[in-house]
Amino acid sequence: MPDALLDRIAATADLQELDSVRVALLGKSGEITAKLKSLGAMDPDARAAEAPKIHAEREAVTNAIAERKAALEAAELERRLATETIDLSLPATESVNGTVHPVSQVMDELAEIFADLGFSVAEGPEIETQWYNFTALNMPENHPARAMQDTFYLQPRTPDEEPRVLRTHTSPVQIRSMQEHGAPIYAIAPGRVYRSDSDATHTPMFHQVEGLVIDRAITLGHLKWTLETFLKAFFERDDVVLRMRPSYFPFTEPSAEVDVGWSMEKGRRVVGGCDGWMEVLGSGMVHPRVIANCDLDPNEWQGFAFGCGIDRLAMLKYGMDDLRAFFDGDIRWLKHYGFRALDVPTLSGGVGA
Ligand code: PHE
Repeated sequence: MPDALLDRIAATADLQELDSVRVALLGKSGEITAKLKSLGAMDPDARAAEAPKIHAEREAVTNAIAERKAALEAAELERRLATETIDLSLPATESVNGTVHPVSQVMDELAEIFADLGFSVAEGPEIETQWYNFTALNMPENHPARAMQDTFYLQPRTPDEEPRVLRTHTSPVQIRSMQEHGAPIYAIAPGRVYRSDSDATHTPMFHQVEGLVIDRAITLGHLKWTLETFLKAFFERDDVVLRMRPSYFPFTEPSAEVDVGWSMEKGRRVVGGCDGWMEVLGSGMVHPRVIANCDLDPNEWQGFAFGCGIDRLAMLKYGMDDLRAFFDGDIRWLKHYGFRALDVPTLSGGVGA
């Protein structure tokens, strides 16, 4: 076996050159193929002597080519890994088509505003047990309040499973947070909620943000201050006026619905002043029974909670008037109302920048 052949293979510089050597040696009219063909014309003795040598040569060449191929491929990969880098810190080009949905933008703004007040962000599942969605929130079975919300029930997975529900509000996250972290708690929980309802101002899926504070000696005054501070920061106006109206929720006592004052500016209704009122959220002091349901002592711990529609907040701040368009996925709407992906909400830079 002439080493010259192996040297030729070893000397190839890239995959293309290696392939031409392979064709020159093993191809249809290659050198080694020609030798194999010549066997037929030999007399039997000569063939018996030559055949093993030629076959051995072909095998050695085949192996050497495979080895060289693997080595060249590995080197090529190394080269690409070394040269092809992506700089993730470079700005995206303007040709990037996606925009941040106003709901996501508002959720980011909420997280930012409440982070400054010392709140963390909590989460819970969208498929809930009835215990978390109702019972633990002081709505026992057959409680009329369960009928207040048009609930989607899931098919039970086994004959004796109690049907689970698509959560009708973010309030079950109150329960999960207290169970998981105990007290004190300062948290918000933004997320999707579901009710069987659909018209210009209601969609079967919408977004809420829950607020929960549990600590010692928390009063209604803390609730009002927190909501006022939040709404002033969110709407970026100091003249935001709140009105608290007595209301009823099974899981808060006392309960209050909160209206925000609006006024007319250039023919448009904007938040601020008090020419009229619009309802923005439900709130109250967490019912002692709810605190006890989470194995905390209601004599030691009190708190407040609130629940607010995020889509509604987005509509008020950014001037959209049909809720259904939020969920149509129409690229023209998203381009108009969406936010650039790299606009990070900051209080200093203006959350609505
Ligand atoms: N969960 C209530 C709703 O969806 C809102 C709420 C939350 C009220 C927390 C009071 C306290 O209507």
